[in-house]
Amino acid sequence: MKKNVVLFSKIPDDQQKRLADAFNLSVFDGSPDSNKDAFITALAGADGMIGSNMATRVDDAFLALAPKLQAASTISVGYDNYDLSALKKRRIRLMNTPTVLTEGTADLIFTLLMATARRTVELSNLIHDGKWTSGITPQYYGTDVYGKTLGILGMGRIAKAIVKRAHCGFDMNVLYYNRSAHLDVEQTYQAKRCELDELLKHADFVVVILPLTSETDRLITKEKLALMKPSAILINGARGRIIDQQALTQALQAKTIKAAGLDVFEVEPLPMTSPLLHLDNIVLSPHVGSATLETRYVMAKCAVDNLIAALQDNPPTENWV
Ligand code: DGY
Repeated sequence: MKKNVVLFSKIPDDQQKRLADAFNLSVFDGSPDSNKDAFITALAGADGMIGSNMATRVDDAFLALAPKLQAASTISVGYDNYDLSALKKRRIRLMNTPTVLTEGTADLIFTLLMATARRTVELSNLIHDGKWTSGITPQYYGTDVYGKTLGILGMGRIAKAIVKRAHCGFDMNVLYYNRSAHLDVEQTYQAKRCELDELLKHADFVVVILPLTSETDRLITKEKLALMKPSAILINGARGRIIDQQALTQALQAKTIKAAGLDVFEVEPLPMTSPLLHLDNIVLSPHVGSATLETRYVMAKCAVDNLIAALQDNPPTENWV
């Protein structure tokens, strides 16, 4: 008999068909909350689920709605919305897509770094607003990236892909903060491992690309922001909660740091009441690190592979959290 699977939101047709061929599939479009009763009914019979909705917290309360659940496959590298101890108690397998979004996410983080340094959005708005009436004055000049110092928090796959871009493409010096040393980046890109405070004091660009855990939650406090140079730029492509967003807003307002590029926020979507929306020295993107057609396709495929393997008693080893 076919097993039951809940798909939180639509994925490319051919991948959805693989799921529909293998399982009895219930598909929801976007937020499961939009069709709550049907979602709860589907979960009640689900053997597996596949989704990417970071807003859905998968904890004891959620799992109580899914008494038969054996496997959860997330279309993401991050899985901080899953309570691992709750999954463990129920012996539910969790799988993610760690290898396929590395380059796409590194590209987006570098895009934010470049756009923030060169004030691309501000200057584009200037043209849209009809304010390009003569030569651009120094008040709109940007900051060089080439040859500067990158300080990167984390040294996972995405961090390494960013370091490669920084070192090989932009001749940047690289400092990194990570609980373990990575001799490969030290040897290949002359990256230097250092303490967080030292990195914050010296980096021209601070890039946050760490997983959200109890250790990294609010790692970047008001005090840590105060260590950064007034000319420094902060980029967060990881999770909003790693930085104290209120303290960051104040630092940007007071210009104790130069600018920030943010793909992630404490609350997503970012509420329209957020004071971040009133700042010029910021570039925002709506949590789109992996959002290219190519990358999202391979992420969906990987998540489908993971779930099919897990529910057919052929556990994936590589992507099993
Ligand atoms: C990830 O894959 O973790 C991205 O941040 C999308 O949530």
